[in-house]
Amino acid sequence: MSKGTYSFTTPIYYVNAAPHLGTAYTTVAADTVARYQRMNGYDVAFVTGMDEHGQKVADTAAGKGMSPQEWCDSMEPAFRDAWDMLNITYTDFVRTTEPRHARSVQKFWQDLYDKGYLYKSSYEGWYCVHEETYYAESDLEKNEDDQFVCPDCKRPVQLMASGEENWFFKLSEFQQPLLDFYAANPDFIRPETRRNEIVTFVEGGLKDLSISRSTFDWGVPLPFDEGHVCYVWADALLAYITGVGYADPEREGEFERRWPMQYHFVGKDITRFHCVIWPAMLMAAGLPVTGTVFGHGFLLTKGEKMSKSKGNALKPADLCAVFGVDAYRYYFMSDVQFGHDGSISLERMVQVYNNELANTWGNLCSRVFNMTKKYFGGQVPEVPAEFAGAENPLAEVAAGLYAKYDECMAKVDFTGATAAVQELAGAANLYVEQQAPFRLAKDPEKAGELAFVMYNLLEAIRIIALYMAPFMPNTSAEVFSRLSLGEIVGLTDIEAATAWGQLPAGNAVETGDPLFPRLDVDAIDMDVE
Ligand code: MSP
Repeated sequence: MSKGTYSFTTPIYYVNAAPHLGTAYTTVAADTVARYQRMNGYDVAFVTGMDEHGQKVADTAAGKGMSPQEWCDSMEPAFRDAWDMLNITYTDFVRTTEPRHARSVQKFWQDLYDKGYLYKSSYEGWYCVHEETYYAESDLEKNEDDQFVCPDCKRPVQLMASGEENWFFKLSEFQQPLLDFYAANPDFIRPETRRNEIVTFVEGGLKDLSISRSTFDWGVPLPFDEGHVCYVWADALLAYITGVGYADPEREGEFERRWPMQYHFVGKDITRFHCVIWPAMLMAAGLPVTGTVFGHGFLLTKGEKMSKSKGNALKPADLCAVFGVDAYRYYFMSDVQFGHDGSISLERMVQVYNNELANTWGNLCSRVFNMTKKYFGGQVPEVPAEFAGAENPLAEVAAGLYAKYDECMAKVDFTGATAAVQELAGAANLYVEQQAPFRLAKDPEKAGELAFVMYNLLEAIRIIALYMAPFMPNTSAEVFSRLSLGEIVGLTDIEAATAWGQLPAGNAVETGDPLFPRLDVDAIDMDVE
């Protein structure tokens, strides 16, 4: 029986550039949650997509000599292919130019208009097209040419002339409701440092937000004033509700069932949109607010945020070609603590790969599968009756694992979750050393003990494969196949499935190639953009 719904999102990515390590990071994290919570009995909705409107995308398309729609259409395969390559199991991929999304946007803002939360007024101020964000003059910085520049990306900002009439959302009315909401829901913004930033920002006062533009037309027209298109953020955030069936006659009842969501996973640079504007929009609409906005950190190379313009960008496909998709996923999830900035490097990636995958998890499988072949003709041995209830350190480690792992996964501490699984792999490697099956095998009187030890090792491998599956789905499927076990995908009770002693005696065990052949960093030749 399902434990209920578990729903979450990545950001809806701008289509001015192809997916990169940063966007792949959030998407892999969300997929790890999706895969785990399915195995944990939840009915999962995992929404991702493309943010296609706004001036930045229109400008990019113009620069390519294409219409915005043509440009966006041409980018869809880049995103879908990247997510397929990384084994991402999203449940909806929302393109903000789809008619179903326009329907959500129009329904939502019509509702706020009807409720009196919108008014028309002229706007004078500054706008950064790259960030698609309005700034007060007091927030701006100046460059060497004495031009005002964006405080975030340092590019010159545009003056939005008065005379352009905009629709405004009465965001200022939500200052106190938001502060009350943050106080009553301490988990709404995580990690804690981001929460403090947001509370301070809102305490400083909120201005009403311009939600429409009339000087260009690349956006969703507002139903009550068709000469205006929706501001790109006032459109994109609503992809989260489109993705679970809001205003969709073909998905009746789904939105009510799946909303509110558990999580929005976002980078720390866009937490303000998600923690201030978005909950205020939802409150105005009378809809419940998402459980947690989790603002993860940036991936840094040599201490700097990775970007093409800095020439320090590694590409997901290149890394996957060297390490394999599973090791790629494992590295980013285990080594960069979700919520903190993390320095990444090829050297470190090789180190984690060799230590934790080749030498620990991969080596355990090779040794144990080979010994099974040698001592038991490649079959899982039966545990002799006299060993039932015998001291079993691996069973003990495994017994405490679900609680530890589940707690980490619920709070998206992937580093903690992988460390907990690696404890069992480490314990199993130690057990090989201590029990020394290769010595037991030489003594016919120890045949029973040998069977007991080997069964325990194979069973530990089965359990590790289950817990590793959300991180490294291909490898776990491979291990299951070598143990002649069925599919992991589709399993809905990981707690029951990881209870000790379920590996059937007599199952054929295949040895196969090493799961993670060791890598030498000096032999890797890779371009950095
Ligand atoms: N379209 C908006 C989001 C709208 S959501 C309703 C947007 N798109 S984006 O394509 O720019 O998304 C970028 C996402 O990738 C952000 O969450 C950002 O934090 C993340 N990253 C971009 N570079 C990054 C790193 N170097 N490291 C980690 N994540 C970073 O913003």
